[in-house]
Amino acid sequence: MTPALTIDVVTLFPQMLSGFLNESIMKRATESGRVIFRAVNPRDFTEDRHRTVDDKPYGGGPGMVMMPDPLVKAVESILDPGARVVLLTPQGRQFRQDTASDLALCGHLIIVCGHYEGIDERVRLTLCADEISIGDYVLTNGTVAAAVVIDAVARLVPGVVGGEGAVENDSFSHGLLEYPQYTRPAVFRGMEAPEVLRGGNHELIARWRAEQAMSRTRSRRPDLLKSNNDGDNGNDS
Ligand code: ADE
Repeated sequence: MTPALTIDVVTLFPQMLSGFLNESIMKRATESGRVIFRAVNPRDFTEDRHRTVDDKPYGGGPGMVMMPDPLVKAVESILDPGARVVLLTPQGRQFRQDTASDLALCGHLIIVCGHYEGIDERVRLTLCADEISIGDYVLTNGTVAAAVVIDAVARLVPGVVGGEGAVENDSFSHGLLEYPQYTRPAVFRGMEAPEVLRGGNHELIARWRAEQAMSRTRSRRPDLLKSNNDGDNGNDS
């Protein structure tokens, strides 16, 4: 099978990803040939004896900054004309479900992980990379953020998640949170699973779920309803 998506991760810590990629759905995505994951280490593109990838920031300040040369060379070693390059940084636009849908279609995704205080600005300029943040908090290691992005993107590749409609009803995919789910037993610690879900009337079930999705979204995430009405979900691609 021709893979629908190749994901390259440029990281100083490829081992951090291997456990995650070798379990569960990500493992099956690779085994089925739908997704290919590869890791590229910028240290392999250094030229000095110590394999240096970082240095003190110009202008002073705490921490170290990732040097441009090893990172750019690492990306260039795998770059092809159709590839999308994404730089993970807290300064990026926010990663959302629609960002994941968009990236799942790109064919070749290159994710560049930051570490230390940040990445030399010239990396972004050289690679024309899209900067993405997974949330308004700072991680010590962008490889953790890469795992989040990979999971959200790879599960949207057709066939990766089993069951018809498995991803279509996700929270956020229609701009709403998902309705509550129930399974057996019918009564758990005195709490009954809604009768309508056990009754088998698909029309009533669909109506109940739509109402629940709307009321949950209204009470928990009214911002989602507002951004839908505005026609602006805060994301630009
Ligand atoms: N690296 C450090 N913090 C990050 C964040 N919030 N999103 C993406 N990459 C990061």
